[in-house]
Amino acid sequence: MEKRKDFASKMGMVLATAGSAVGLGNIWRFPVEAGNNGGAAFIIIYLLCVLTLGIPLIVAEFVVGRAAHTNTAQAYKRLTRNTFWQQTGRLGIITGWLIMGYYVVVSGWTLAYFLKALATPPTIAAHIAKQPGYWSDFFNELTSDALLPVLCVIAFALMSHFIIVRGVEKGIERFSKVMMPMLFILLIVLCICSFFTPGAKEGLTFLFRPDFSQVTFGTLLSALGQAFFSLSIGMGCLCTYASYFSRDTDLLGTALKVAGIDSLVAIMAGIIIFPAVFSVGIRPDAGASLVFIALPSVFQEAFGAFPWLAYAVSVMFYFLLLLATLTSLVSLHEVPTAFLAEDFRMKRRTATTIVTLSVIVIGTLCSLSMGPLADWKLFGKSIFDCLDWVSANVLLVVGGGLITFFVGWKMESKTLRDELTNYGNYPYHTRKWIIVLLRWFVPFVIFLIFLSGIGVL
Ligand code: PFF
Repeated sequence: MEKRKDFASKMGMVLATAGSAVGLGNIWRFPVEAGNNGGAAFIIIYLLCVLTLGIPLIVAEFVVGRAAHTNTAQAYKRLTRNTFWQQTGRLGIITGWLIMGYYVVVSGWTLAYFLKALATPPTIAAHIAKQPGYWSDFFNELTSDALLPVLCVIAFALMSHFIIVRGVEKGIERFSKVMMPMLFILLIVLCICSFFTPGAKEGLTFLFRPDFSQVTFGTLLSALGQAFFSLSIGMGCLCTYASYFSRDTDLLGTALKVAGIDSLVAIMAGIIIFPAVFSVGIRPDAGASLVFIALPSVFQEAFGAFPWLAYAVSVMFYFLLLLATLTSLVSLHEVPTAFLAEDFRMKRRTATTIVTLSVIVIGTLCSLSMGPLADWKLFGKSIFDCLDWVSANVLLVVGGGLITFFVGWKMESKTLRDELTNYGNYPYHTRKWIIVLLRWFVPFVIFLIFLSGIGVL
């Protein structure tokens, strides 16, 4: 078996982990959730969820990963003899594999939109924006087509493959060190452009002036679910990355940085999207279609007087989405790859290839389930919807529950203490609150999310 390599620098480690968290969840899902739940009030509740649930869970995954220093399936085996708890890591691997299957499909759409934005000259784009229904037809044709989305799935899976195959330091870390700063530059440029749209004042007011009259129990559950997905919690992804952390990495500090970057990107995505949406009179709760149906023409209309600017903004926006998606897909890809390479003593190249091929197969099935295979149903849902539902509403939440319970109650307390304090380098009393939250608050909240996810609440 090849020698295990860790992240070489702290900066690379933080950027790679933040790259896992920043993805479709921030740019696609967050604005939709905020739009559906009253804007600023949702953001405040979301940030509270990140602090009280997100940070302890990130730290819990980090603790397991770094203490065991191996892939997520092996990690629990190294830390406990109890055969039930040993399965927690395996569940994470299955969840990751399934999430990847549909994540790669949506990633493929971002590639298609990026290429479309790039290839459409500004004058034609301006003309298209005036045709009502153009983008919904485009989206429906794209997603139900048998060939194009599958080609995009293959292209995306291969991009991720070529990063993963080069290993943790030369692949994931180097890639994140280039892509994440680029992502930030794009975000800042797009935010600045957004301030000059006609709907800037209205959009920013919606985003930053809280109206708590709209807040319900459902808002809280949406915020919790969003925090889970956006922070990549519950499937061993953070645990796998933490297994490459060095011994002097401050786990709590890293968790705060990752959660901070992730939340900042989500809010910046809101700053880009809402002013544009208000500029053309679309309702902010336009739903999941916001990014793929409403936005393509929104940019054209918002910057109508400057077609080249509209062109540049659209191209940059879809490139941003593509980058964010790729860094998340890479982290998902790493989980089963590390598992195959270490548990089955495979070469990294072989393990990566097996995962890539399996992702292409699942992704293709998911993609076709929106077109030619629409009649194939699992539990009454298309394959795409079924994977999305089972992984996001059930497996991620069950995984998160097991992780919090394991770290809070079952893990050897000395190991937990050593990891939290970096072997006594930080005073224990400044870290103890994490354990209190992991023992009492987080399991209770996860139970609520689970009940809501399966439709009981
Ligand atoms: N956090 C990613 C996003 O916001 O798009 C999605 C994700 C990546 C979820 C990795 C889970 C995971 F393990």
